Amino acid sequence: MDGRNETTGSIAFVIFGVTGDLTKRKLLPALYQLAREKRIPERIDIIGFARRPWDDGLMQQVLTEGIHEYARISPVDNKIISELLSDAKYILSEFEDRKGYDELNRHLDDKKYRKVIFYLATPPDSYANIINNISACQDYAINKEWLRIVVEKPYGRDLNSAQSLENDLRKCFSEEQIFRIDHYLGKETVQNILVFRFANGIFEPLWNKNFIDHVQITVSESTDVGTRAGYFDTSGVIRDMFANHLLQLVTLTAMEAPYAFNAESVRDEKMKVLKSLRPLISKVALENTIRGQYDDTKIAEKVLPGYLHEDRVAKNSITETYLSAKLFIDNWRWANVPFYIRSGKCLPVRATEIAIQFKQIPLSLFNWKNMAGEAPNVLVLRLQPDEGITLSFGAKLPGPVNQIAPVNMEFCYQDAFGSEPPEAYERLLLDCILGDQTLFTRHDEVIEQWRFVTEILKAWEENPVKELPKYQIGSWGPVESEQFISRDNRNWRNLQG
Ligand SMILES: NC(=O)c1ccc[n+]([C@@H]2O[C@H](COP(=O)([O-])OP(=O)(O)OC[C@H]3O[C@@H](n4cnc5c(N)ncnc54)[C@H](OP(=O)(O)O)[C@@H]3O)[C@@H](O)[C@H]2O)c1
Repeated sequence: MDGRNETTGSIAFVIFGVTGDLTKRKLLPALYQLAREKRIPERIDIIGFARRPWDDGLMQQVLTEGIHEYARISPVDNKIISELLSDAKYILSEFEDRKGYDELNRHLDDKKYRKVIFYLATPPDSYANIINNISACQDYAINKEWLRIVVEKPYGRDLNSAQSLENDLRKCFSEEQIFRIDHYLGKETVQNILVFRFANGIFEPLWNKNFIDHVQITVSESTDVGTRAGYFDTSGVIRDMFANHLLQLVTLTAMEAPYAFNAESVRDEKMKVLKSLRPLISKVALENTIRGQYDDTKIAEKVLPGYLHEDRVAKNSITETYLSAKLFIDNWRWANVPFYIRSGKCLPVRATEIAIQFKQIPLSLFNWKNMAGEAPNVLVLRLQPDEGITLSFGAKLPGPVNQIAPVNMEFCYQDAFGSEPPEAYERLLLDCILGDQTLFTRHDEVIEQWRFVTEILKAWEENPVKELPKYQIGSWGPVESEQFISRDNRNWRNLQG
């Protein structure tokens, strides 16, 4: 669509935290790509807000460099960058300083913007300040066709802080104006979970407790905490991954078909899953979660530092760099089907997948060597790095020897469609501009996620440990996690890179 011909005025895209990593690596390259594909119906004017002593020119220069470095498709088109950034304005101000907001308001007024997006690309502890400052200035809302605010995760660190942030947001903005980003939902393959389930007839009849033995969801990272160590030590896997991405993947895997594919009905169905999660409270939480920390590990004569030896990590930290958990969804579809969830740092590969393990056959007919096992049917939805879907089953090995071998039916995004899927932020920014909230988390989802997670945090706090189980860098987590799943006569999947 070449919407530029129908321009009805520009959209003011105000980025709080414009000098930060997210803006440079994700937001501007995504806006550039959307402009390049002519997907944005109107002109976008960038207005940056941060405290570094930059000016308009320097901001335009740094963001241009960022697009050159991080654009998904190269070579980049300098004409499009210049159209996107030539009028970009920088407002130098602390988030706490009223004068910055006055300047911003004057600028929005002068240019008579009728459509405004406020994007909070800032540390979460600045959210309340910015929201209150924006809303203190009622002028922002005057003469606007629409006004939207985008909030990055994490939204809070437990139920209380999430509720307080939500109160601030909802005091100033209506739910239709609030876009809470969980960038996992912008990934094509995450959206494909719903298409796969609800645009195909063959799997949905099997998608329940009658045919599924269990579900395994893995989000593994091969890197350590790196430069995020300080932040990570205050959050751990539970806040960084589990409270948002992992629970969102659970809801998409488990939800019922919505009555229509729109924001309200999709989120209504996700919400029902969150409400059906069996609470993990006190002793039950301890029994159904396993935490771990990566340890000093010798690899090729070199000792790599464990978590407790990372810079900016407390020496006696009990923040988990690995977490596995067993969840149940107490509804008719999923009664007593375990959902095993795991995520961690310094694991063997970077991979995200949802594996649906179907039940074993009722009776074995073949008294043959069976290398596929009694339950060979696994459907794997791979979200990263090579997005695709695999269905495993047993087949007769060719030849006179009677043997059953495991084989796969494969679908790979890149092979099928000849291109890599777009970046999550491209989709999410476009949806925000178009006002579609389907892939954004709703108020009640955020609160319900934190209600569930806060009980686990409480159980850990009330039963303090001096140290966490350790695991070697490059292994699949602590041995306790293997024992945890093998007590149910099941095993974690061995993912390949
Ligand atoms: N980076 C990612 O890939 C990523 C991915 C997912 C979610 N997120 C979320 O996105 C948000 C931003 O992340 P980030 O990595 O971009 O953080 P960052 O690199 O630390 O950037 C923070 C930005 O906020 C500004 N800032 C902080 N305090 C300020 C104050 N008091 N007054 C004025 N400006 C202030 C900083 O300005 P100075 O540079 O001048 O300090 C900088 O522009 C976080 O909530 C993060 O969790 C980030």
